[in-house]
Parts: sequence; C-alpha cells; structure tokens
Amino acid sequence: MSKITVTAALPYANGPVHIGHVAGVYLPADIYVRYLRNQGKEVLFICGSDEHGVPITIRARKEGVTPQEIVDRFHNIIGKSFKDLGVSFDVYSRTSSEVHKETAQEFFLDLYNKGVFTEETTEQYFDAEANQFLADRYIVGTCPVCGNENAYGDQCEKCGSTLSPMELKNPRSALSGNAPVLKATKNWFLPLDKIQVDFLDGYIHGHSDWKSNVQGQCKSWLNDGLKPRAMTRDLDWGVKVPLQNTDGKVLYVWFEAPIGYISATRELRPNDWKDWWTGDSQLIHFIGKDNIVFHCIIFPAMLHLRGDGFVVPNQVPANEFLNLEGDKISTSRNWAVWLNEYLEEFPGKQDELRYVLGSILPETKDSEFTWKDYQTRVNSELVSIFANFVNRVMVLNHKFFDGKVPNSNGAYDEKKNTCRIELQTCLNQMKLALDEFRFRDALSELMNMARVGNRFLTETEPWKSYKESPEYAADALNFSLEICANLAFASEPFLPFTHQKLCAQLNLLPLEFLVQAFWKNAKLQGPLPAGHELSEVAHLFSKVEDEVVAQQINKLNAMKADMVPVANTSQAESGTTEQKPEIQYDDFAKLDLRIATIVAAEKVEKADKLLKLTLELGVETRTVVSGIALHYSPEEVVNKQVVLLANLAPRKMRGIESEGMILMAEAADGRLVFVSPAEVIGSGSGVS
Ligand code: MF3
Ligand code: ZN
Repeated sequence: MSKITVTAALPYANGPVHIGHVAGVYLPADIYVRYLRNQGKEVLFICGSDEHGVPITIRARKEGVTPQEIVDRFHNIIGKSFKDLGVSFDVYSRTSSEVHKETAQEFFLDLYNKGVFTEETTEQYFDAEANQFLADRYIVGTCPVCGNENAYGDQCEKCGSTLSPMELKNPRSALSGNAPVLKATKNWFLPLDKIQVDFLDGYIHGHSDWKSNVQGQCKSWLNDGLKPRAMTRDLDWGVKVPLQNTDGKVLYVWFEAPIGYISATRELRPNDWKDWWTGDSQLIHFIGKDNIVFHCIIFPAMLHLRGDGFVVPNQVPANEFLNLEGDKISTSRNWAVWLNEYLEEFPGKQDELRYVLGSILPETKDSEFTWKDYQTRVNSELVSIFANFVNRVMVLNHKFFDGKVPNSNGAYDEKKNTCRIELQTCLNQMKLALDEFRFRDALSELMNMARVGNRFLTETEPWKSYKESPEYAADALNFSLEICANLAFASEPFLPFTHQKLCAQLNLLPLEFLVQAFWKNAKLQGPLPAGHELSEVAHLFSKVEDEVVAQQINKLNAMKADMVPVANTSQAESGTTEQKPEIQYDDFAKLDLRIATIVAAEKVEKADKLLKLTLELGVETRTVVSGIALHYSPEEVVNKQVVLLANLAPRKMRGIESEGMILMAEAADGRLVFVSPAEVIGSGSGVS
C-alpha cells in the first residue's frame, strides 16, 4: 500500500484565516484525509505557516514591529483555529523554523550543485536612502495601462493588469518616497523555458485526471511559454541564500514555501520523512486557485530536477474563491468572517460551519457565503432533518425500550430492504464523489441518508404503533438505530464533532474498528445487537435565530465602517486612490472642515484599529473615533493639529458616539499620515 502525503497550502502568517481559506483549502483537505484514514490508508496531513514574503514585512512596517513578531502572533492564532475547527493535521509547522531553513537551503544547494540554475545579473530598483533593493510591492508608480498613479510594481489594483516594476512610469519607493535607482545584482534563475520542453509539457498533458479549472490554468501558462524565474531575491526577510557573498539575498518565497511541506514532514518524522516524498508515495496538494502555477508548474519542476527519487504531485485539487454577502472577501477592506472569531462567538458550533461551507465549496466556480444561507442550511437541514431524526429515535427508544436496542422481528422487512438499498446507493455515490474531490456532492449524500431515515420513521410511526402492536415499534426503532449508526459512521469526515457525539449516544465500541468496517468497502453496517445499551440523549444541533444573523451582518458592516474614519481606505486597496466623478463647488461647500487640536487619545477596547480622540475646536470639544490605532499610539497623536470634517453625521462605533472624521493621507506603503496646517494656528479655524 503506498503512502499518501496530503498537503494544505501554508497560510501566510500575516493575518488570521477566514472562511474563504477554509472553504478553498482546509475543509476539503480535511474531509479527504479523514476519508483516507477511515479506510486504513497510510496518510500524513501536512501544513504550517508561510512566514516569509513581502506582505508580512509590509504588515510589520505598518504596525512598527518586527516581521518575527507578526508571524509569531498569527502562527499561534491560525494554528489554534485550525485545531478548534477539527482540521486534523498531523503536523502544523512553520517556515521560520530551523528545520525548514536547513531543508530549503539543502534543496537549493542540491539544485545549484547539479547546475540547474542560470546566474544572471540584472538591474533592479534600489532605494538609496533606505539602502535596500525594493520588492515589487514596494515600488509604486503610474500604470502604463490605465494611468493609475498608485499602481504597484507587480500589479495595478485599479485595472487588474499584471505588471513588472520596469513598466511603471514615474516609479517611486514606498519606503522613502524617493525615485529608486537601478542597481546591478546577481540572482539565480530556474530556467522554466527549458524545463517546459524537457518535462512540464508532458507532465501537465499527462494529467487529464486533474480538475478542469486546474488543467485550464496550467495549459494557458504553457501556451504563453514559460520564462526563467528568479529563485533568489534581494530582501532581508527570508531564508538566506546558502552561497558565498550573497549577503542581503534570500530564497524566493515561492521557491522555499512549498519546500515547507517537506520540512514539516521532516519535523514530524525525522527518521523516515523521505519515504513520504520518494518512491511510490502519492502527493496531493490542496490549494486555492491563486496558487495553481506554483504547485502545478514551479514546485513539480523543482522536484523533478532534484531527482533522487523525489515524487511530483499526483493531484492538485484547487478550488475557486468564496465571496461573502455579495462582495469579494478582502483582508485590507476587513470584509471577512474570521475563523478565530467565529469559533469564539459560536462555541461548539464547528460542524455547523463545516456543514454550511461544505455545502457551498467553490469547487468549479466562485461561490458565496451569506449569514441568511447559513441560517437556512442549519435550520432546515442540520436541525430539521439530521438532528430531528436522531433525536426522535433516541427519545422514543428511551421512552419505550428503556434505552436498550429493541429486537428486530421482521415486521418491516420489505420497507427496510428498500431503505437499505437507498442508503447503500447514497454511500456509493458519496464514495465516488470523495474519490473525485467532489466534496459538496459527497456531503449532500450524507443529508440524503438522514432523509431516508426521516421518511422511514414517518411512515412507520412507532410512537403510534407502540400501544397496539409494540413489536412493530420495536422493529421500526431497531432499524432506525441502524440508520443512526450508519449516519454516525458516514458523518466522520464531514462533521467530526457530530460523529463523536452520535457515537457516544449510541455507545458504539470499538469505534475505530466499526468506522473502518464502514469505510473500507463503503459498506452499510447491519443492525445493532438487541439489548445493546444506549447512552443519554444529547442535542446535536440547535436553531440559528434571526437575531444571530442580524448581529453578524451588523458586525460585518461595522468592521467595514471601522475602515471609514480614514478617508482614503474606504474603498481603495491601500495606496491606491480611486478617481471620483466631477463635482460642483456647491458640493464641496457642504463640507464643514476645521482645524482641531487633539488634546487626549486612548485605545478603544477590543478594536485594535480604533483610537478615541478628544478634539479641541476653540468653542467646543468633540469626541472622534478614528481608525488609526495601527499607525499611531495615543501618546504620539496628542497635541497634533488635524483637519476635521465637522459636519459629518454622528455615528456610534463600539458604543462611542463619533462626532466627525479627521482627514488622513495614505502613503503608498499603507502608512497613514496626518493632514495638518503648515504652522500651528488657532483651533477651530475654518478650512476652505
Ligand atoms: N502562503 C500562500 C498563500 O496563502 C500559500 C503557500 S503554499 C506553499 O497563498 F506551498 F507555498 F507553501
Ligand atoms: Zn492600471
């Protein structure tokens, strides 16, 4: 039996994970791994934090802390939330670990010694004042396509064009604001053009078994023709290049991060990790669609060139994206349901989230999460169908049969056989779907099994037959319990917490043996032995009330609003300013802008972005809540003079009435800068 290594994309440790990540990657991966384990297969489930890369250094700069502090914080938050959701990684490692550094450097050196890389000296933008080369994201300039003045060196967020820094007009450094200079630097390139011919074309075309969205993207990359790509970069945050005279150079994050899968395996299995990466071991990567090129082209090329028996990915079941309440999920706009917050606010309701997300996985196209839909699916499926069936069966058994499994006596043989055939068909479909990475379909078969149970119960009505012909009730409940047990087994990959609760109620032992018997051959299990004692009835799911939905929607809107007090970031991604339609002077004249002096400032509890400011306006004092706490400490802002939009309708934020908004300018690197009078003037002075 061959070993199976299943990986889930290493999340960037620059923020918590949200439901889009869960639906895109971690939930389907977990369902699949549990399915494999239940069949007794030898599988390792690998993940960890991706702790290098420019987004992490950008966040660190914004918050004025070190990148290591950022990744330490989020590594812990992310790791805990996966665990709490029941994502059953065998290891959750991190790329700032020693074992990773060693593994990545060794991998690089191995390819280097094999003569795989080409060395090239190129001219890259350099910030003389900051004395460092500039990552693409740190270069801002005018987009050659649409004229947006705040396009990034790798992308214009206004028109969506992919750019290279050299294409920008009037480039400037996001670090100092100065125009960068070109400076020669040597880097090592992976000659993807050559590897395309030697290996990748055949590899990709040989995988007609991959999902069509994955194949489609790969083929379009190949059709465009691959170009050499630098595997080292001039940056200071990352894994150092293991060669002489390479100070200030690190391994390209997309070279080193996928090696993180190997490092994590090595951390978990120091002695036999290699067996999981060589020979006939199977390698399966769960990822989101933005990761396809790295997992289907670059990493396979690296593994192939490494040789030494290393395997290349067999399957890369990538998902599309999940939207939220009609809008793209966006970290910078704070439009997301954060997993750690869900788990805190909905204790014990992990399976509700797993069920809802499992039902809407973006497997073939983008899909959408709404709280209303969450409520509907929980209430009309988990509660009304699944929990209702199990609960009725359990309660009736305790009531009529003293909590012991009654005899089966042939009363409903025909009906039972029909049901068994239906249940087995559900199970067959479920297995087929799981084998083909169609997790939505698989999950819907679980609910179909519960539907069969519900219908059987409704048709046999043991609560009525018990009085006149108890043997009918006995037979009906005996079979209903059989269905409950099968539901318990079938739910394990999808709803592991419910699986546990249900097995405990049914007092099923030895559990592992029973679960494997069910899954190994996807075979429905027979009746529980008569006389077997059931445990206490426990509620599986409860209804989601309208208030909860309303609360969550309000919370989303409030989170979005937290961004509003800073004029520039309301819609645009950081650093970009959207152009707005022309207005008349009258429109402008409606704004009551005044100079105010900040006389006191404090943090707002439980809102890490907000400061509560007290403003002196000459004749009056105002309280304003402003979203600048990540940029300024309260001490730093006291005595500053600012421009206040004084006639903005007051609004409550975190229970504090905010009376106006102060104007801030957003620098290209996302820093917020006060708009202040050029010299100190009287508080309350008008601005026009
Ligand atoms: N951190 C990347 C992302 O979130 C994924 C890295 S996957 C790895 O998009 F293979 F590179 F580790
Ligand atoms: Zn553009």
